[in-house]
Amino acid sequence: MSVDSPENVSGLRCVECDLEQPFRFPAYRCDCGGNLEVTYDLDRVRQHFVRPDIGELARRGHFVYGSLLPLAVPGEQHFSLLVGASQLVQRPDLAKSCGVGELHLKDDTRLPSASFKDRASSVLLAMAAERNIRQVCTASTGNAGCSMACLCADAGLEAYVFVPASAPAAKIAQLTFYGARVVRVEGTYDDAFDLCWELSNRVGWLNRSTGWNPFTREGKKTVSFEIAQQLEWQAPDVVFVPVGDGNIIAGAYKGFKELAAIGVIDRVPAMVAVQSTGSNAIALALDRVAAGTPVRESVLPVSATTMADSISVDLPRDGVAAVRAVVESGGEAVQVSDDEIRSAIVELAGKAGIFAEPAGATAYAGIRRWVAAHPEAADLRAVCLVTGNGLKDVGAAAGLLRPALEVPPDVEVAARLLGI
Ligand SMILES: Cc1ncc(COP(=O)(O)O)c(C=O)c1O
Ligand SMILES: [Zn+2]
Repeated sequence: MSVDSPENVSGLRCVECDLEQPFRFPAYRCDCGGNLEVTYDLDRVRQHFVRPDIGELARRGHFVYGSLLPLAVPGEQHFSLLVGASQLVQRPDLAKSCGVGELHLKDDTRLPSASFKDRASSVLLAMAAERNIRQVCTASTGNAGCSMACLCADAGLEAYVFVPASAPAAKIAQLTFYGARVVRVEGTYDDAFDLCWELSNRVGWLNRSTGWNPFTREGKKTVSFEIAQQLEWQAPDVVFVPVGDGNIIAGAYKGFKELAAIGVIDRVPAMVAVQSTGSNAIALALDRVAAGTPVRESVLPVSATTMADSISVDLPRDGVAAVRAVVESGGEAVQVSDDEIRSAIVELAGKAGIFAEPAGATAYAGIRRWVAAHPEAADLRAVCLVTGNGLKDVGAAAGLLRPALEVPPDVEVAARLLGI
């Protein structure tokens, strides 16, 4: 397989005007301004796709699905760290309390840099490494940059990361220790995005920024391959996804769609986009589509304010692909308040042992609201993506629960105060 044109890939297609174009790298947006997506020669993939066994997935991570990735050779040789292969945790107790038939939590809080974003960064950096590209940049609310910086440290690449002023301290610390050149922009994520774009054009860095780079979706879709495999090659009925830029939901949908297209699963699950009421551009876009606005024109900026910093986005950079994913899969959007997100953090940590950052708990927060409008939920199998680790934003979790008991180093006093 040649690096310039991997044999399994048929080209690139614009998600807005549908124009098919030859594969190239790097690739950013279509001339019409729409984002691009990678297309595959699905007849060829159908012949070559081998269902890996679970042991192989555990050993090699998500590069095991090489026949649906745009790589000349599987990418794991570029990294010592294992990417993907996260646990799918079934919780009958939480399924019952939420009101769904089955609930599986896809725990991406324990990937190398402690977020889902490692999936995307690893595929893009493997493509870069195949071409000897050494300098990469990204705009990031924090996690995309941390994942890129982490894997750049592993593979010996140089990372430039542009974060908004609101990025939590732990994410800045991670970035710094991974050795990235961190640029903290006095402004929003959207300001950081635009600045990173202009500078990368000027100096020629490879730009990983979400949405405008079509290859991040390719990494993100592996979550769906893993979910299908962990459910013994069956699609769940519904998947809950936290949404900011919309790239995760667009990628996860693409993954299920490709598996269905090659006959590995028999249908695509309904994709439910969960947003904060304070950052709800995709939910509003879906309302506009329902009222007759074409998908291409449906995504407009909001003025985002939510404690879930990772999904605090004015203009979703993969918005059209996200809206399409929801509409085509028969899903919908659900909006949750910051208080519901806080409760979800407490419940996931206290009842499942999964400590999530606010955005990471947002999909879980959406389940109950969705169930209230879906009487059939009790018969359905649901998967919920948990996308980022709570240690990245302890400030958000501080104050949610009773504080630690302060005691002197004295057995009698400690026992009395503990009431034991
Ligand atoms: C932990 C976490 N969850 C969810 C998201 C949302 O992903 P997207 O912006 O692709 O919608 C992000 C994005 O930064 C994230 O870091
Ligand atoms: Zn186009």
